[in-house]
Amino acid sequence: MKKIATGLFVMAIFFSTLTASPAQNGQEFSPSPNLSLADSHGAKKIGCASCHAEKRLLDDNESALNPRCVACHGSMTDDAAKTKALINPHQSHLGAVACTTCHHGHTASQAYCQQCHNVALAIPGGTAVEARNTTGQLSFQNQTKESKPQNVDVAIIGSGAAGFAAAITAHDLGATVVILEKQPITGGNSLLAAGGMNAAGTTYQEERGIKDSAELMYQDTLKGGKTLSDPDLVKILAIKSASAIDWLTGLGADLSEVGRLAGASVDRAHRPRGGASIGTHLISVLRKNALDRGIDVRVNTRVVDLLMDKQGRVSGVRVYGKHRGLYTITARAVIDAAGGFSANPVKVAFYRPELADMATTNQPGATGDGIDLGAIVGGVVLDMKEIQLHPTIAATGRTMITEAIRGNGAILVNREGKRFVNELDTRDAVTAAVLAQPGKSAFLVFDEGVRKSLRQIEGYFSLGLVKEGDTPNELGARLAVSATALEATLASYNKAYDAKKDADFRRPDLPRPLRSPKYYAVEVRPGIHYTMGGLKINREAQVLGKDGKPVPHFYAAGEVTGGVHGANRLGGNALSEAITFGRIAGENAAKQAKEQLPRKRQIR
Ligand code: FAD
Ligand code: SIN
Repeated sequence: MKKIATGLFVMAIFFSTLTASPAQNGQEFSPSPNLSLADSHGAKKIGCASCHAEKRLLDDNESALNPRCVACHGSMTDDAAKTKALINPHQSHLGAVACTTCHHGHTASQAYCQQCHNVALAIPGGTAVEARNTTGQLSFQNQTKESKPQNVDVAIIGSGAAGFAAAITAHDLGATVVILEKQPITGGNSLLAAGGMNAAGTTYQEERGIKDSAELMYQDTLKGGKTLSDPDLVKILAIKSASAIDWLTGLGADLSEVGRLAGASVDRAHRPRGGASIGTHLISVLRKNALDRGIDVRVNTRVVDLLMDKQGRVSGVRVYGKHRGLYTITARAVIDAAGGFSANPVKVAFYRPELADMATTNQPGATGDGIDLGAIVGGVVLDMKEIQLHPTIAATGRTMITEAIRGNGAILVNREGKRFVNELDTRDAVTAAVLAQPGKSAFLVFDEGVRKSLRQIEGYFSLGLVKEGDTPNELGARLAVSATALEATLASYNKAYDAKKDADFRRPDLPRPLRSPKYYAVEVRPGIHYTMGGLKINREAQVLGKDGKPVPHFYAAGEVTGGVHGANRLGGNALSEAITFGRIAGENAAKQAKEQLPRKRQIR
């Protein structure tokens, strides 16, 4: 307390002496790269109050801070409009994130994009050494004194598709809800989702004359999962998939385009019209719905422990907030939607040593905390060795090149310029085929027709990942593959398209020929993408214990669970699972909260 009081006092001095903002000064503000942003502001006599007007602790969402950045510097949209460079960090698929996600006042700034993309982005204060000595006074990090526990009906760990779906559902049934997210932005891996969301028997499929059914989706999923999946869970996934699309559409999502992803018998991957990435769109819709409902969403807030009462019921969470430190939230039910562990190299190597050091497509928060938290309170964990590689990660960096590009017609060729696989086979098969090629990589080749069919491809151009040529020969020369072989491969593929039969590799779907210049290619290799294992749940999204009974008042949904995808997930099924089981978890948790009489909570 003494430390906080001293901090407030020092802040008050600053506020009274240094209060001018750049806008007030009418000056153009260009921070020095070698100073922290706070020091840069200070050097320009722009005082602490410009950012920290309120004389109170920062909340973990830093919600008081960000409007102040915008007031002086303009919004992300304003900044995006000024940027002429190919890479425009203020207009990215992450959406309108808080300024402080990248621009740190008292420590070195870092573009969040660089967590996944190896692009060189200069950022103000990015090379600044550690904070100046005001840091301790201003940020109050590591506050250890616990404040009074808060109470909610439902506490949700993770702000991906599963977490948001659970939160909105529980809220709409009358429950008070909090979403806890350890990253500075919401969305998790769901935000990165690209190719689409699977659903069978939707109105959008019907409009296109696509004949699909829950039964066919069930069979495809079981087959893709090599019969390791839990058929009961797969049944729920398939049966409820169309209503998941309807639910999202009702919230304002556009999932009206339908395309093919690998391992599906028919087109059932739903995505926004024009072929934009699904994740950005879905998360912005879910985020807005949560915001409109006044749902309490806390970023920079890591769940570090689950609480149990004396009856063995999960009764809340202990969290660590970036500014607030440790505190407790008691809850009548907890939903674990904390995602998988593809971005946890130690865990990946523990289960699959041969994958150590392989690049991942995942966001940095995908570390598997939710699985550990669930196991500690008695949840059974299964299929942890089932780790999926995505066959097409850009060979430079770790940007995933969506399967939808193959679904829309792209082919894979090796360094000899030859096709070597049915590009729409399941991921395990395509991955194995790529790894068997010289250099363990391949080229994803497409033309202008494919480019025009899928808006998300433009992102790969912006990141400088695509090579191009006016003719197949020219492209071949740029790739240093045999130009004549590449020309022959494309001619043979186009012949197969005309004949509607791929005799060479038995590719089931040939949506368009590859004969519209220009011709393009991205070099790709496999990378760690999805963890099929996790907490065992039942059809009600209850986490099961060793005795086969539910761990009371504890639910899980999405990638944190195991059982739906078996040994190999089909592209497009993860979002479907996250939304469907997120909704089930939200509904059951809200019902449970309502049924419970007020009780004195006993925390372990
Ligand atoms: P996430 O969306 O990962 O959310 C979990 C959240 O929990 C994260 O934000 C994480 O930071 C947070 N968290 C973790 N631990 C804690 C903690 N201790 N405290 C607080 N918060 C915590 N699937 C498809 O179906 N279609 C696609 O097109 C598709 N494309 C993909 C593209 C990419 C690049 C990637 C990486 C995955 C893709 N997937 C796709 C897979 C799919 O996106 C994910 O499996 C799915 O979104 C998982 O949703 P989720 O809600 O379970 O978890
Ligand atoms: C992709 O678009 O290739 C990823 C789809 C998925 O992982 O489901």
